Amino acid sequence: MKVWAVFLMLYTASALVVIDSALASSCLYYFKEFDWGCGGTGQGHKMYMCRCFNVDWLGSVSNCMATQGKNQKEVTHAWKHLRTRCLQKAHVDYSVAQIEGWSTNASKYLQAPTAADKKKLVTHPLSVNSTNYAVYRRSFNEINHHVFKSQWFGWGLVLYCGAVIAIFTVLNFFKRVLKVSVVPRSLSTLFLKYMMPDIKVPGFTPFTRFDLLLMVLFTIQAVISTAVSYTVQLPNMYMKGRWFLTMDLIGYRSGIIAFSLMPVVYIFGLRNNPFCFLTGLPQTTFITYHKFVAIIMAIEAMIHTSVWTAYAIKAGPYSVWSADAYWNWGIVGTVLVYIMLFQSIGFIRNFMYELFLAIHKIFGWLFIVLMWYHCISLGWMGWVYSIIAITVYDRIIRCWKIFALNRGFTRVKFNFISENTLAITIPKSDVYDSVYKPGHHLYLNFFHTSIWYKCFQSHPFSVVSSPIQSQDEVTVYMRVKKGVSKCLSKIPTDEKGNFEVWLLIEGPYGHSVQTFNEKESLVGMAGGLGLCSLLPTFYRNPKNSILFWAINKIDDLEALHMELDYLIAQGTDVRVFLKRSDCDESSSFAEEKYKYLSVSNSRPDVNSWVEEAHALASAMGKTDLHILTCGPGLMDSDISASVYQHMSLKDDLAIHFCPKNYMW
Ligand SMILES: Cc1cc2nc3c(=O)[nH]c(=O)nc-3n(C[C@H](O)[C@H](O)[C@H](O)COP(=O)(O)OP(=O)(O)OC[C@H]3O[C@@H](n4cnc5c(N)ncnc54)[C@H](O)[C@@H]3O)c2cc1C
Ligand SMILES: *[C@@H]1O[C@H](CO)[C@@H](O)[C@H](O)[C@H]1NC(C)=O
Ligand SMILES: *[C@@H]1O[C@H](CO)[C@@H](O)[C@H](O)[C@H]1NC(C)=O
Repeated sequence: MKVWAVFLMLYTASALVVIDSALASSCLYYFKEFDWGCGGTGQGHKMYMCRCFNVDWLGSVSNCMATQGKNQKEVTHAWKHLRTRCLQKAHVDYSVAQIEGWSTNASKYLQAPTAADKKKLVTHPLSVNSTNYAVYRRSFNEINHHVFKSQWFGWGLVLYCGAVIAIFTVLNFFKRVLKVSVVPRSLSTLFLKYMMPDIKVPGFTPFTRFDLLLMVLFTIQAVISTAVSYTVQLPNMYMKGRWFLTMDLIGYRSGIIAFSLMPVVYIFGLRNNPFCFLTGLPQTTFITYHKFVAIIMAIEAMIHTSVWTAYAIKAGPYSVWSADAYWNWGIVGTVLVYIMLFQSIGFIRNFMYELFLAIHKIFGWLFIVLMWYHCISLGWMGWVYSIIAITVYDRIIRCWKIFALNRGFTRVKFNFISENTLAITIPKSDVYDSVYKPGHHLYLNFFHTSIWYKCFQSHPFSVVSSPIQSQDEVTVYMRVKKGVSKCLSKIPTDEKGNFEVWLLIEGPYGHSVQTFNEKESLVGMAGGLGLCSLLPTFYRNPKNSILFWAINKIDDLEALHMELDYLIAQGTDVRVFLKRSDCDESSSFAEEKYKYLSVSNSRPDVNSWVEEAHALASAMGKTDLHILTCGPGLMDSDISASVYQHMSLKDDLAIHFCPKNYMW
């Protein structure tokens, strides 16, 4: 019996919220003004402990619901609300049939309420004075309507994101599947030239002007959604004072909007974000949106929390409010969101990337738990279920990719191809060729006794499926940095410079490479190992394309020259630029060995690369020039500045700038 009651309490928990049933709330509020011998007109536990055992009160309230309801459905729902109220606040479980019985019984004893009934103990059931009751009903109808509207304002913001994604999806479908451009050429050039350049905001990964525009529009909609349409009139019998009423309404509005944004924040941050596939946008872009929507959500959550805190302090005593569990879970939730935002700021994140990632994930799960307890007694659980579903979905897909597509634990050979570069040779799984396309990347977890504590880290790398190497394996080139890559580089090697590590491989991710036609020209500009991200595109389109590659160490060229030789044989014009370091004598030998290598004392001038690419493509009468880049941030931004400068409306040649340096 007790278990059942608890279950029922959870199941119908939302009855605690005033908006569950306007009919029930208006009857309860109308009758609380009379003297039932409980010594007050409050709505707390103490009052219900008394009222729920007063048969006259039970009769009056249930009869009010029966007579004022529009139809039987509304009446029954109101009776259920009454049941939950007595269960939650007075711990007594009446059945709906019992409540109906009191209602019928009371109709035999009803007396019209008088002013005296408010001061003197009432010992019989009261009927409803419809003149006086009307304002109660209007009050709760309006509160309900406000909450209903807030829900739609929340949906409005979700729909905004949906609409943006739908438009991108359609454009992507035309571009990738039908291979036609629906946007007129001049318009598309205008868009590329003025909307695609990057904006750099400290703490953020660079995003485009178009992203900024989308975010500004979203912000405007969020502000409007939060600020307009407060139409509840005074007097309101739920909240008598204007101040309290306003606070209450703002609290509802901001809370519901914050809630509606939760699934958007979660889905945009997923590794297996389905919208990446649909829209053709890189995950970097969605991570930017993820951060941005999270900021808006955090602001709404802060408004919600502040408003209710101010309310509780003024209504006092605060301890009465904070006694409820949902109250405290809510506050912890808001604090958690701000901690997460704070540690996501660029320099903090990059300072301790792996720690950031671990904390971010754990807090993300913790947040779900907090919101569960925040809402279990209030309602709106649908939004909480949605983020649980999103999180579980991602985990399932990840496990499926690791264990089904990439056969789980795999022992893999590592070898040094230069002092700071490791080549990881991964044997293909049975389904590799049917699921991986050139251009995809994968994530690796490393298992080795010396770095066992890093086995939870999952790092992204580009796959190079070289046409000149064994077709049964693929290669990942890994630059040694400060984290797990550094630890791997310290593992003792055998005499040939090899060692073996168990891996969990997760993939494929990202987008496959494009194929270009006769009228399109491909130019690549890579720095260091960024070349690996461009190679798949060049294997696909080697003919008449140009590849510029800037390196700091001749080792990089030694390691990858076979790939370049292959491309040259297929018709690619390869140019490699090495910056001479002071103590480097081998470079002049190298210049003789590799005809396409030029060594100089300064960094190559990327502007001249762009100029040359543009001039050549124009001379050859091409319609489109695709410039792919992947290098260190500074190099990429120099190239992009130059590319956007070269874009012109008058030009017959359309330039497309595709940075492949996906950092987030
Ligand atoms: C799509 C994609 C493809 C990549 N391809 C290659 C490649 O082919 N070869 C290569 O050498 N590198 C590649 N990288 C970069 C590579 O993921 C990082 O260099 C590697 O994770 C660094 O590990 P670390 O622990 O030694 O780094 P740390 O020294 O701890 O961190 C260096 C930087 O690497 C980035 N980083 C670290 N961990 C992660 C992670 N789990 N997820 C995303 N970024 C992270 C962060 O920006 C961090 O600031 C690629 C990155 C992406 C996003
Ligand atoms: C019927 O209502 C009257 C008045 O409220 C009350 O005294 C009586 O106990 C009720 N009878 C039953 C069976 O509930
Ligand atoms: C309802 O209450 C008002 C004012 O309290 C009173 O004037 C009116 O007569 C009452 N109506 C009925 C039907 O009792």
